[in-house]
Parts: sequence; C-alpha cells; structure tokens
Amino acid sequence: MSGPEFDPITNDQNDRSQDSKRLRKEILDKVESYFLSVKKERQFVPGRTYLPASQKVLDASDVQYLISAGLDTWLTSGRFNDAFEDRFASTMGTKYALTANSGSSANLLAITALTSRKLGNDRLRKGDEVVTVAAGFPTTVGPIVQNGLVPVFVDVDLPTYNINTDAVKEAIGERTRAIFVAHTLGNPFDLGPLRRLCSDRSLWLIEDCCDALGSRYEGKQVGSWGDIGTFSFYPAHHITMGEGGATVTNDDRLATLMESFRDWGRDCRCPPGRENVCGNRFGQKFGQLPDGYDHKYVYSHLGYNLKITDMQASVGLSQLRKLPEFIKKRRDNFSRLWDGLRDLEGEIMLPQATAGSDPSWFGFPITVEVGADGQSRRRRLIEHLDDGRIGTRLLFAGNMTKQPCMEGIDHRVVGELANTDQIMYDSFWVGVHPGLDDEMLDYMVAKIKTFFH
Ligand SMILES: Cc1ncc(COP(=O)(O)O)c(C=O)c1O
Repeated sequence: MSGPEFDPITNDQNDRSQDSKRLRKEILDKVESYFLSVKKERQFVPGRTYLPASQKVLDASDVQYLISAGLDTWLTSGRFNDAFEDRFASTMGTKYALTANSGSSANLLAITALTSRKLGNDRLRKGDEVVTVAAGFPTTVGPIVQNGLVPVFVDVDLPTYNINTDAVKEAIGERTRAIFVAHTLGNPFDLGPLRRLCSDRSLWLIEDCCDALGSRYEGKQVGSWGDIGTFSFYPAHHITMGEGGATVTNDDRLATLMESFRDWGRDCRCPPGRENVCGNRFGQKFGQLPDGYDHKYVYSHLGYNLKITDMQASVGLSQLRKLPEFIKKRRDNFSRLWDGLRDLEGEIMLPQATAGSDPSWFGFPITVEVGADGQSRRRRLIEHLDDGRIGTRLLFAGNMTKQPCMEGIDHRVVGELANTDQIMYDSFWVGVHPGLDDEMLDYMVAKIKTFFH
C-alpha cells in the first residue's frame, strides 16, 4: 500500500484525546474476549455435524475491524474502503480495484461501463452480441440482457466445466463484441487462447472471477487477463465482507466509467464527503448546463449507487490478510477429496484443472454417471449425502436457457449444449472451504463411497 501504514484500529480523526484512544482500545480488547467466549469449539460428529458446501471463516480480528469501522461513525465508503481497494489491486496485480456492493453489481458495472458513449466506437450498442455460457450463475448473463445486448450461449467442456474455445470461435459473428464468462468453481477457463482471440478480433474480455479469487493461469492472477475482472465477497466466497464485490482493471478509461456508474453516474470523482479535489469544481462547461455548474452534480451517465459501507470494507480488509492461507487450504482440501475419490472413476466424473492453471477452488464438482438403467443418479446421491449431513449445491442455473427467467429473452445458442445439459441433470458440488478439516473430508469421501458400494 502506498502512503503511511494503515492503522485499522485507531482513527486520528475520531480519537483525538488520550481518553478516546484508550476507550477504543478497551472496546476492541473486549470485542476479542467476547468473540472468543461465544466461539464454540465445534466437535465434529460424523453424520450429526452439518458440513456445508460453503462457509465463512471469521476470527476475532475480523470483528475488531468491523467494530473499529463502526466506532469511526463514517458509515459510508471511507478509509477502510480506500485501504481495501488499494490492497486488493496490489493483490491482483492490477492498476485499479473498485468495490461494489455484490459480485452481481460488479458484473453489472463491468458490462454497463462498456456501453458508455465515452468509449466512442469501442462501445457496446443495443443488439450487440456477448458470448457466454449457460452452465453458470444467472448474474453473469443478467447484465448482458439488462443492457439491451444479446447473450450467445456456447457449450462447456467436461471435466473442466469451462467454456469450449472452439465453440467460441464458431459463435463469433458480425455483431459479436465481447466475451463474458466465469471461471467455473474456481477453475480458470482457457485464458491464453481466449485472450489472444479477443485481441485479434477486438473483442472485450470480461472475467467473472466471483468464484475464483486467487486462481492463476500461467502464473498470473485470473481477473488480470481480461479488460475487467469481477469478484464477489458474499459469505460463501474465498473472502467475505457479508455482501460485497469488486471490479479490477488496468484500463484508465474503464476504471473511470465503472466508478461513474457505481457512484450515481456522476462525472466528478471526489470521494464521499469531499469536494473540489480536482480544484476545478466551478470552472467547467458540461452539456447544456450553465457555465461553471458545480462538477459534483454533473452526470455523464444514468448510473446507480452500488457503493459499499466502511463496515463491509473493514471485514474485507481483515479477511484479505488471510487470503494466502485460505487459498492453500482450499487447494489441499480439493486434493484430499480428489485422491480419496479417484477409484470411483467410472461411477463419477472427477474434475480436472484447466491445462496451465492453478485453481483456487470454490467447490469440488462431481458429475454422476447414469446408472445401469440409464437413469440419472444425482438426486439419490444428493439425498444420501443429505442423510449424512453433507451439504451439496448444483452448478447454479444448470442450463440457463431452460430457466423461467429466459422466456421471451432474445438470445442465440451456437451448437449443441450437450455438456451443459449433462451438468443440468447429473452434476453437483461439495465444499472445499477452509472450515473443513481432514477428518471431515475423509468422512465425505467415505459417505460418497457407500452410495456406490
Ligand atoms: C460465478 C458467479 N458470478 C456472480 C455471482 C454473484 O455474486 P453475489 O452473490 O455477490 O452477487 C456469483 C455468486 O455466487 C457467482 O457464483
């Protein structure tokens, strides 16, 4: 981080007297004592203790940061948010990181920014096509439609669960302007060929990294390959701030546009509670407004308010310090499940990391091969795991084109979505989050095995 070291615990603006500094320290010490007193050491009882597919992992310092932000009483985006954006950008190796109030909002900002008239001929116009997949989360697709663009769905590969690069090439037509796709459950999609394709064809590339914080492709962080990367900090994800998300980019124009759309559509970039940072607040002419109209109230876009509060940012900032150990645990947990389940190959399809990648897994996807009677066995396996108190999740929307929300929505499908349909019928995932230990993982493996043996 640039500038003086960030102190999350004291706030020189608020804690001006020795008394207030001492009181704040006392409160935060008590917060730690409280957290430790209520934190139950969970005794794992196989078959009785619920093992969720995803789970936040908090410690006392997360809560101290949260309370410290509360004591600041700034409430909106402030010093914690600035520090989070700064540190998140350096973690990602990007020039900019901008928070948003969810991963879905980050996705909305990414696509909406590309529609800005300020991008001239590079901008997305109504009816332009965006290539994506149907086997994923709905709010990767939603912002495409919400901006009057047309989603073009192609199939995914198994067992990587990621977009098929040849299908993308086939899908590109005269109106194709962008590719917007997620790294499925943390497994990076084929960034090398797709990055090259986008550069050659002048297509925007947006990476939905909501499930992939810390994943790498050819050694480089996902999110830093595309024009924009998006992230979610919902409690299920690699780090959390309750509700929250972020976009990252190296592009000055896109950073400015996403900030404008996030902050009511305004032209001015003064942070909340400040004005005239540019020193030219009353010296400019915009549209048909009178000369020198207050820049703080000039709107270059019809925008939103998708900012986060400093309480959210504070938890994110604290969690970010633990990201390397969270990622390591997710990778270790994934490997333990994979090794334990490998002899079930034939009954289930095991996931495979994309060549050249090092995923920071969000979950462990399993595709159940159909039974001898040709019938899907997924539901019975999920119910079997449910009986053993093991949480499962489907691969989100399965096949998005079959969801009720897509009725009457203009879209194109290129090729057969055969693997997507297989995922819709036969796939699910179990957890690899840092709240799972070896004993729990071994129990999960054993329980899955009893279904087949
Ligand atoms: C791939 C993907 N994109 C976007 C989102 C939306 O994130 P949020 O829940 O923060 O809105 C999710 C949610 O889990 C997701 O899995």
